Amino acid sequence: MGKLDGRVAVITGAGRGIGAAVAEKMAAEGAAVVVNDLVVSLDGSGQSTGPAQEVAERILVRGGKAVASTANVTSFEETGELIQTAIREFGRLDVLVNVAGIIRDALIFKMTEEQWDAVIAVHLKGTFNTTRHASVWWRENRGGHFRIINFVSGSGLFGSPVQPNYAAAKMGMVGLMNTLAVEHTKNNIKFNAIAPNAASRMTEKVLPPPLFEKLKPEHIVPAVMWLASEQNQDTGMIINCMGGWYSRAAIVCAKGIIIGDGHKTVTAEDIQANWDTIKSLDEAKPLGSIIESFGYVASLLNK
Ligand SMILES: NC(=O)c1ccc[n+]([C@@H]2O[C@H](COP(=O)([O-])OP(=O)(O)OC[C@H]3O[C@@H](n4cnc5c(N)ncnc54)[C@H](O)[C@@H]3O)[C@@H](O)[C@H]2O)c1
Repeated sequence: MGKLDGRVAVITGAGRGIGAAVAEKMAAEGAAVVVNDLVVSLDGSGQSTGPAQEVAERILVRGGKAVASTANVTSFEETGELIQTAIREFGRLDVLVNVAGIIRDALIFKMTEEQWDAVIAVHLKGTFNTTRHASVWWRENRGGHFRIINFVSGSGLFGSPVQPNYAAAKMGMVGLMNTLAVEHTKNNIKFNAIAPNAASRMTEKVLPPPLFEKLKPEHIVPAVMWLASEQNQDTGMIINCMGGWYSRAAIVCAKGIIIGDGHKTVTAEDIQANWDTIKSLDEAKPLGSIIESFGYVASLLNK
């Protein structure tokens, strides 16, 4: 018995790196997988079909269920076909893992419009495209345990020099996840994110060699396996994964301060006088939705 017996997964960017490790493990645990990869160079240029097919063949040789797809995640039409491949070949879709990624690093004053657009297109629009098509099928086929896992990055969560396009795209994926997690509280679709750090071509020039050796993509895989499982009931989580380190990252809202009673005209001097309290993370916690912030402020104003 595998942990994912009977489940069907689409994994984008699964021709190499973390995505390939995820696809192979999911298949080893019984999932039927669509191994998607356009197979581009690190900056998104060029194309070949090889690696996605090779990953699928490795799975088939071991007795697993897999099919390769070379859909470009930036294409609305091709991602529609990608989702349909899962349904046509395996009859359903349970898990979507958005791993596909490219980088085109540059300082902001040197960044071209093309560098910006290309990175936003793969990460942010690509995630919209696959999610949009999967959600249509899930809406028409309620009753499953549907899971989306988005690969985001510490570059966006914490900031990273020369990656303004990449960081913005990854945080766009977090915003998309936050809203979908709030929208879909009832139909058992769980949206979660992983912020990985692992040895791949994306990090070979960034990670110091001793760390590169230790940060195997295989360390990321168990977190995907858990988030993809029927047992996981959490949604809207961001999980840092690096080496053997797993930790939750969150956007939090601190207690702050009400200045006046909601009617007083607050001045910049008031803000300055209360700056230490405003910026402190006192009683900081993640909010369940924007509505929670409305309720919180309303309760303070009514006191
Ligand atoms: N490796 C890390 O430490 C790290 C850190 C933070 C975030 N990430 C994120 O994790 C994910 C996996 O990274 P990786 O290190 O395995 O990278 P990788 O470059 O080894 O793999 C990414 C794959 O995505 C594919 N891809 C790119 N554009 C595509 C498109 N338009 N359509 C379909 N496939 C496409 C590439 O061909 C490649 O095989 C990426 O989203 C990356 O941004 C990685």
